[in-house]
Amino acid sequence: MKFDNRGLAVATESDGAIHAIDHYAHELLALGTHAAAVQVAADAYPDCAMLQACCASTFLYSQTTAGAKQAAPFLARAETRLADLTEREQVFINAVKAGCAGDFESALALYEQIADRWPRDMVAAKLAEFHFFETGLAARQLEVMRKAAAANPDVGHVLAMHAFALELNAERERADEVARAALALDPNTMWAQHCRAHVFAGQSRIGEGIAAMEQYAPSWQKFSHYTVAHNWFHLATLYLSELRFDDARNAYRKYIWGYSPDAVVEHTDSILLLWYLELAGGKVDAEWCAIAPHIRANAHDTLFPFLNCIYLYALTRAGETTEAASALAGMERHAEKQTGGLAHVWNEVGVPLARGCVAYAAGDYDRAAGLLQPILADVPCVGGSDEQRGVFAESHLLSLIRGGRKVEARAALSEHIAGRPETALDRHWADSI
Ligand SMILES: [Fe+2]
Repeated sequence: MKFDNRGLAVATESDGAIHAIDHYAHELLALGTHAAAVQVAADAYPDCAMLQACCASTFLYSQTTAGAKQAAPFLARAETRLADLTEREQVFINAVKAGCAGDFESALALYEQIADRWPRDMVAAKLAEFHFFETGLAARQLEVMRKAAAANPDVGHVLAMHAFALELNAERERADEVARAALALDPNTMWAQHCRAHVFAGQSRIGEGIAAMEQYAPSWQKFSHYTVAHNWFHLATLYLSELRFDDARNAYRKYIWGYSPDAVVEHTDSILLLWYLELAGGKVDAEWCAIAPHIRANAHDTLFPFLNCIYLYALTRAGETTEAASALAGMERHAEKQTGGLAHVWNEVGVPLARGCVAYAAGDYDRAAGLLQPILADVPCVGGSDEQRGVFAESHLLSLIRGGRKVEARAALSEHIAGRPETALDRHWADSI
């Protein structure tokens, strides 16, 4: 038995295996470029079950059913020694296994157990954060991150997770405070910088947000491309709040699209930025056609409905209506098979949302408004962050504006602004009503 640098027991006699676990924890939380090194380490120390589970967890981030299945041999190796492991390791392995099987609720229940009993396990908290993203369960996310932050006050990356959970629960002042505390520990805490981007947008601190993010931007290049692209996505949406279309397009071309065009993370930032560009009144054509060949297969996957919705929007905008119709039919078949809470997520919210996105993309504004309006309050359960899901509420608003439904459009706009200061984009929409 040895102990990792958080003081957690690991069933191994190898210092090398412990070092590899600590290295993975750091890379995962810091959004570094070397998280994949854990795959080499897992082969080098096949007897260390915890290392096999850490390696298996890397496949979750593919955000594809097929990608997550590649975790199977590592999970099988981890399970051969299950009886010899500590209880925490057993729970962790079962959580990773459930996550890789797409059973996010079971995975989260296990990570919540770890947060209660072994809150210094920051890898468990980080993996839980990802499943909370896929399920939109922000209140439970905050509870886990509160415990993790209390147990790891010296780790800025954990404070950043706490800050982001506060942001997702609209506790933005407190979120900014905690994010700044993380940045005081280390100015390169990427997740804290990212959290502040959400706060700036949520509080309409547009000028201040642009200045801060532009000041942070040179440091992003040292981190994973996801960090670069996602932070630029946020900066670009701040530009759009000021109707700075050229700056947003420049961010898209220079930092977001074209690095790993088959990766879901790149699809998400790219599709959402183009969608926001169109919502703000910008014109996008060629970009949709360039993305379409890279997303056709993903559009048929059924991991969490948020992804289906954005793929369906992009395919429809690219003119690939047959492909979109077939992907939507597949999603509907999947939804019909769901029971319990998942029936609500897929059948009652996901499918109408997906149909609404397709209708809006096709310019059928009355149908889009009719589909989106009744489910907007329930949309968080389809997954995605608050800012990513903003496209759904804005598409509802634009359906009303473009459909000439002025009274409803005014009401939707004031609900969208919800007491925060108005931006140039808000005033542009108000003028167009
Ligand atoms: Fe974000």
